[in-house]
Amino acid sequence: MATYLQIADDEKGHELDLFCVPRHYENDLDKVIIPHGLIMDRTERLARDIIRDMGEHHIVALCVLKGGYKFFADLLDYIKALNQNSDKSVPLTVDFIRVKSYCNDKSTNSVKVIGGDELSNLSGKNVLIVEDIVETGRTMQTLLSLLNDCHPKMVKVVSLLVKRTPRSSGYRPDYIGFEVPDAFLVGYALDYNEYFRDLSHICILNDQAKEKYKV
Ligand code: IMP
Ligand code: MG
Repeated sequence: MATYLQIADDEKGHELDLFCVPRHYENDLDKVIIPHGLIMDRTERLARDIIRDMGEHHIVALCVLKGGYKFFADLLDYIKALNQNSDKSVPLTVDFIRVKSYCNDKSTNSVKVIGGDELSNLSGKNVLIVEDIVETGRTMQTLLSLLNDCHPKMVKVVSLLVKRTPRSSGYRPDYIGFEVPDAFLVGYALDYNEYFRDLSHICILNDQAKEKYKV
């Protein structure tokens, strides 16, 4: 079972004024729920756990775009640091896939893979899928079944966040950064209709903003 840092349902978070938040988002957010520094510290440890388990063979890190790009970049920096500072190291290559399942703040039933390299390149490889957040688990389950058709040697999934929600299918990633309350979160590349990727901290979106940026 993956260990994770639990953010409780009654977590009050931190006042926005205590951190640097872009002025254009000041009225859209309730609280900072995970400050950027804490994301980085937890990511450093995930890198160590991943290398411990997967560090025997060439790893292909597969970034699930767009929401995963910040976590992907930072996680890979930590893995690189481990690789270049220890006697044991493995080659690391990268690949990207783009999936879309959300409209406004709701997961839709269809998970679309829209672009990326041929998954067949992953045949025989040790694949690490890097995702921003697992909610129902549908995106990851769809991706895993597509990937399994390509016969990789090993597949592990790391998700920065997992949402505690009754909508969950029960799917759990191999590595989890934080388990978070059932709220809509933005920042650190998590978006609401493409907004808020340019925010460093993970924050709770307020209801007013859900209307303001609705499509
Ligand atoms: P799932 O298929 O329901 O597990 O949803 C996974 C995808 O929905 C994630 O990769 C995100 O892109 C998106 N998502 C789910 N919850 C949130 C959220 O709170 N904020 C931003 N995106 C989310
Ligand atoms: Mg995602």
